[in-house]
Amino acid sequence: MAVIAGNWKMHMDPAETRRFFDELSLEGPAGDQELLIFPPSISLVAAAEAAGRDARVQLGVQNIHWEDRGAFTGEISAPMAATAGASFVLIGHSERRHVFGETDEEVARKVDAARRHDLVPVVCVGETLDERKAGRVEEVVLRQLDAVLPSLASGEARFLIAYEPVWAIGTGETATPDDASAAHRTLRRRLGEAGGGGLADEVAILYGGSVKPDNAAELLSAEGVDGVLVGGASLDPVSFAAIARWQAVDTHSGLSDV
Ligand code: PGA
Repeated sequence: MAVIAGNWKMHMDPAETRRFFDELSLEGPAGDQELLIFPPSISLVAAAEAAGRDARVQLGVQNIHWEDRGAFTGEISAPMAATAGASFVLIGHSERRHVFGETDEEVARKVDAARRHDLVPVVCVGETLDERKAGRVEEVVLRQLDAVLPSLASGEARFLIAYEPVWAIGTGETATPDDASAAHRTLRRRLGEAGGGGLADEVAILYGGSVKPDNAAELLSAEGVDGVLVGGASLDPVSFAAIARWQAVDTHSGLSDV
């Protein structure tokens, strides 16, 4: 079973959200995946009402503040999200980091807040194109992971990691299955160092960045890829369901047979 997560970003008002769930058809293998949708917070209640008819889809929010309440105009808190129907939260998405200047320290505080309120954090990490060209993929993703690992690894509660190379988000450029596997291996190695084999085996690591119905199966079949975080292609119920209906393919390059 893979995790198929849809990050709607700043799309889908409450009416569009209801329509999405009305049109979402998850027959066949699609219903065997763990399906998550992250609507904008203003559409969360509409999503909870609509998705409530279909217990196969769980909901999350795209961001939280680290405080539970207070004078933070425009923000929402973890307990508010939980009450409104969220079970998951994206933390440190690259748009939060690069457009809104979120720091590793803020990301860590948000992870703590999610933990306090039993939201499952989906912590996003990933390098920019310049960082990749400079050979710094490992350094960057490990720095981002290390900032949250003490909090994540401290209890039994579940968390997920999403590896999303910034250059692949919304660009149509996708990491190759081998690129994704390499980054996932690096992250999993660190999870193992932090919490023993159990942590490394249990934590699902998702790939994100221009995942579409026509490349999802190849990415989901790559070694170490436990799911996908889908932006643009998750806005259409037909393409989201098509991704969820993926079937394993052979991504083996054959090089090791030589
Ligand atoms: P994309 O976005 O699939 O539109 O590239 C992925 C994400 O930002 O989570």
